Amino acid sequence: MRVVQIIPGLAVDEEIFGAAVDCLASHAPAHCALAWEAFADPARWWLIPSPDDDDAGDPLAYKAEFVVVQTLELTIKINIWYRPDLRAGETSKPHTHPWVVMEAHPALSAYEDEHWYRSATGLLVYRGSVLNVPGSVNRIVDRDYHQVKHVESPGRTVSVIICGRWLHDEANQGIWGHLDLDTGCHVPVQRDPVEQERFRSRMYRINPQHALHRRVARLPQ
Ligand SMILES: [Fe+2]
Repeated sequence: MRVVQIIPGLAVDEEIFGAAVDCLASHAPAHCALAWEAFADPARWWLIPSPDDDDAGDPLAYKAEFVVVQTLELTIKINIWYRPDLRAGETSKPHTHPWVVMEAHPALSAYEDEHWYRSATGLLVYRGSVLNVPGSVNRIVDRDYHQVKHVESPGRTVSVIICGRWLHDEANQGIWGHLDLDTGCHVPVQRDPVEQERFRSRMYRINPQHALHRRVARLPQ
């Protein structure tokens, strides 16, 4: 089986590739013409850092993303999960997404996430945990919160993410936020310039394949 080490911490092989292509063929047939050479191209991949560092002080990635297509009306990505997306260290911080609808189709292995939604009267409702397995679809609309709490096979848990219209503000930045579990309130994403720069620098540190293009590269949304 062909295996390619894309960058440190991210490897892909033919099983991952085949599962992703099969999933695309089922759910986005117009976008399933993906060649192995493109899938194994480091320039197509980003590792996404979690807030935590490893023992050597390097940012730990919680997922890897490969963008298949990204327009205002349709975004398709292939995700490989490594860790739960606890975005405040080990503190639970459920989030919304900047798309009218996001459909995550597990392609290989499974992950578990928790869900919350707002009722028509604005009440916060906890829906509990869902085990997302191949054949199921994790459908999340723009006001729903979720958080991945367990990844069954780190590095081999693969999903195809298909999103509808991208929701953005006048500055062309995605509209999303967190759920404050203490108050039940929605907290729009904070765009503190210092925090943004810190995130960018952690992102580039674990994505050396993009270093040369740092000034022009568009980070994943
Ligand atoms: Fe999410």
